[in-house]
Amino acid sequence: MSMIEMIKAKAKANVKRIVLPEGDEPRTVSAAVKIKEEGLAVPVLIGSVESVSSQAKQQGVDITGIEIIDPITSPDKERYTNELYEIRKAKGVTMEDAAKLTSDPMYFGIMMVKLGDADGLVSGAVHTTGDMLRPALQIIKTKPGMKCVSSSFLMDCPNKNIGENGLLVYADCVVIPCPTAEELAHIAIAAADTARVLCGVEEPRVAMLSFSTKGSAKHELVNKVQEATALAHELAPDLLLDGEMQFDAALVPEIGASKAKGSPVAGRANVLIFPDLQAGNIGYKITERLGGADCFAVLQGLAKPCNDLSRGCCVEDIVNTVAMTAVQAQ
Ligand code: ACO
Repeated sequence: MSMIEMIKAKAKANVKRIVLPEGDEPRTVSAAVKIKEEGLAVPVLIGSVESVSSQAKQQGVDITGIEIIDPITSPDKERYTNELYEIRKAKGVTMEDAAKLTSDPMYFGIMMVKLGDADGLVSGAVHTTGDMLRPALQIIKTKPGMKCVSSSFLMDCPNKNIGENGLLVYADCVVIPCPTAEELAHIAIAAADTARVLCGVEEPRVAMLSFSTKGSAKHELVNKVQEATALAHELAPDLLLDGEMQFDAALVPEIGASKAKGSPVAGRANVLIFPDLQAGNIGYKITERLGGADCFAVLQGLAKPCNDLSRGCCVEDIVNTVAMTAVQAQ
């Protein structure tokens, strides 16, 4: 069974209600039908009944039994507006602003999740990453004890001898352009949690990546990774985590043994923490395009699960992301 099949099986075992704010977007409408048919989640489409139905007709799919909520006419709009105002008034949001925001399907969907009317949210087939992330960061906010929201990419690699039977978790590849040492430590802990919760990895082994292994190079960028490693040890003393180390020292047993002798992680890492977003984003794309890995992105560190799609996504990507969101919500 592939990793995504395992995640889908988990999603089916405890069905969650997942809101799709881009409800009248063609791929999203088709995905909602598949999600319902496969029993992966209860999908809720945000949009006007007219536009969602017309889109379904154009796609040739039957949306009978799928809930559609129009933010403009919803009886919940007032409750969401009042609550959004309370959450954001200190940031200068007026009641009028809040009413305008809850007319926006993205904010309406986020308020559904915030107030427990949905278990999770998936968006981004139309919105940019920033436009999807901002409302989630402003309203859902971080989990207690977590310093920041970040992301993990689940890389299902053809070479089953690396990582966890071919699975590697990469972080952060989407959110924080230039993390501080403290943020890097939190990213590492969150990524280990993602490996456990979503992928069923019993023993996450976390490598803090750098261009240096155990002091082989001296540079302020290396110092940051060393500081993050020390902080992560303090925050999660039971987690198998080591660094700083190079990519090959993290994955190749012989290189790990020679460059980082005695490390519990080197040569057998299954969670890789990149020092910044440029490295992480480039790294996952190289693994995907040259290494032939299937990759699946999730956000981590949010108090409730919300996930972003690529604007180039296909129906199957939306279905997969909903399944991952549902498992995060369990
Ligand atoms: N964790 C938690 N909260 C955060 C984070 C974070 N990582 N980043 C920002 N916030 C909070 C801020 O504290 C602020 O809260 P407040 O309004 O309550 O004070 C709110 O979110 C908005 O913060 P801003 O700094 O105004 O947000 P910004 O405009 O910088 O946007 C964003 C944040 C969207 C995450 C930005 O960092 C970003 O654009 N990141 C890169 C996204 C991207 O383009 N990724 C690559 C492409 S995706 C791909 O290839 C798959």
